[in-house]
Amino acid sequence: MKLGIIGSGMVGAAAAFACTLRGAASRIVLVDIDTARARAEAEDIAHAAPFAGATQIDAGDYDDLAGSGIVIMACGVGQKPGETRLELLGRNAAVFRSVVGEVMRVCPDAILLVASNPVDIMGQIAQALSGLPPGRVIASGTILDTARFRWLLGRHLGIAPRSVHAYVLGEHGDSEVLAWSAARAGSISLQGFAEQVGAPLTPEVRDRIDNGVRRAAYTIIEGKGATWYGIGAGLARIVSAIAQDEGAVLTVSTLGDVMGVQDVACSVPRVVGAQGVTEDLVPDLSPAEADALRASAEMLRDTAAAVPV
Ligand code: 2OP
Repeated sequence: MKLGIIGSGMVGAAAAFACTLRGAASRIVLVDIDTARARAEAEDIAHAAPFAGATQIDAGDYDDLAGSGIVIMACGVGQKPGETRLELLGRNAAVFRSVVGEVMRVCPDAILLVASNPVDIMGQIAQALSGLPPGRVIASGTILDTARFRWLLGRHLGIAPRSVHAYVLGEHGDSEVLAWSAARAGSISLQGFAEQVGAPLTPEVRDRIDNGVRRAAYTIIEGKGATWYGIGAGLARIVSAIAQDEGAVLTVSTLGDVMGVQDVACSVPRVVGAQGVTEDLVPDLSPAEADALRASAEMLRDTAAAVPV
């Protein structure tokens, strides 16, 4: 599978690196207006390939994307300290208006995987600009927030994050919803597991974990200017799910109906395989979580409606 990546800033490069280590793609092409940067990142990552597998990685221009099965959109600007993701919308929408058409000209059959923020609305904009069916334009959505939630729960319970099944839903951003009531550790309810291992989920623990998930990007951006490893690995996870037609259940964002809100792009668990997203799923939620998810979806729908495509 050939993978194109538009944007070789930290997120695009981290995605290329993670895909190389994971063997998620046989060929990777990095495209960036800063061609020297794209060339340098491609060469640096290529030097990791011999330690991993057989991925061939190059820098190129739009025409070099021909034959790509997936194109990651990691172009545009990122948050400055204190800035919200939604504040990037105008600038990154303008970037997408000049880029999506070029990608579709060269590889009209590719699945678009959107990483630029605000990622839910950027995914919706990419879908509108490309004219692709909604399931073939996938935004990374809350895949990273879900990973942060599983990691923090795993640490609290003293178990591997892989044994924690828990989702973050809605916006990849401030209004996101941690689905506590649907979370499981092994196949045991979270509450039951926590009691058995003597690590109760007190209100203080829940607040600390909620804050750790919701505020993670702000804290990391304060410390080092941007986030890239987590999202790079998350993008590689989605690429693998598509390339290997896994039918993996992942929290990603595509255009659809969520909690009665129509034509909104936000995250719920979705089945991801070779055709992109093929099913949207509704987890069991408490009334408060359901209300919060509906509010998050409504906010995204209303914000997206104000952006000209
Ligand atoms: C993140 O959550 C900034 O959206 C990016 O790490």
